[in-house]
Amino acid sequence: MMLGTRDRQVRELMDDPDCDPARLAATLHRFDTVNRLISGWGRVYRRVVRPFLRSLGRPARVLDLGCGGGDVIARLARLAADDGLRAEWLGVDPDPRALPVARRRSGAGLGFRCVDSTALRGEGERFDLVLSNHVLHHLSDDELLRFAEDSLALSSGLVLHADIARSRTAYALYAVGITPLAPGTFLRTDGLRSIRRSYRADELADALSPAGAWTVRRPAPFRLLAVGRGRA
Ligand SMILES: C[S@@+](CC[C@H](N)C(=O)[O-])C[C@H]1O[C@@H](n2cnc3c(N)ncnc32)[C@H](O)[C@@H]1O
Repeated sequence: MMLGTRDRQVRELMDDPDCDPARLAATLHRFDTVNRLISGWGRVYRRVVRPFLRSLGRPARVLDLGCGGGDVIARLARLAADDGLRAEWLGVDPDPRALPVARRRSGAGLGFRCVDSTALRGEGERFDLVLSNHVLHHLSDDELLRFAEDSLALSSGLVLHADIARSRTAYALYAVGITPLAPGTFLRTDGLRSIRRSYRADELADALSPAGAWTVRRPAPFRLLAVGRGRA
């Protein structure tokens, strides 16, 4: 497998509107486990999100753009509640197939809507923290810039976009590690395709540069975190 360059052509099975709905639902459910194992949000919560929410000194509004099955924002909401931090949490995704899975995680202060970043921006919505997980690598160059600009326009504080850092080691480890979780889902094929579509840190910094000032960090092994300051 050549991973020296980004594979922009490869498409993920879950991005096909006609993909098997049962496998898609199983994939969205199991993202919870996969994201806990690989996404690094526990560390990002402790190092970035928690200090930021504390610094506000008031209840925050937090938005997850492209929330999929909603597990990342649900986990962050639980972590913040455990730390005594009050906030209002909203997950949005334009894919109506994701919403039934996400809405099972709804609770006090946590809701989900079927809307994309541009439409939400058009509503004049504003949040203290806007984040995403595993959205950037799905997007075309134009979509990436629009998504990044939308996220800055929706935030009056911090913007955090987390994604995979492409590497041969990540590919090899994922190919082996995903085996017990993959049956009945798209996790194996789509995870490997995701890694092929993903950026390296310098590539992501270049790709985002027309859409404002971003810093691309490496918060955990095989992870990227694009950090921006909201403009709202
Ligand atoms: C691989 S999924 C990631 C789901 C979830 N964040 C996770 O980590 O499991 C990428 C999601 O981004 C959503 N998406 C794509 N463009 C978007 C946009 N402009 N605004 C909001 N969501 C978008 C897609 O519908 C898709 O559900």
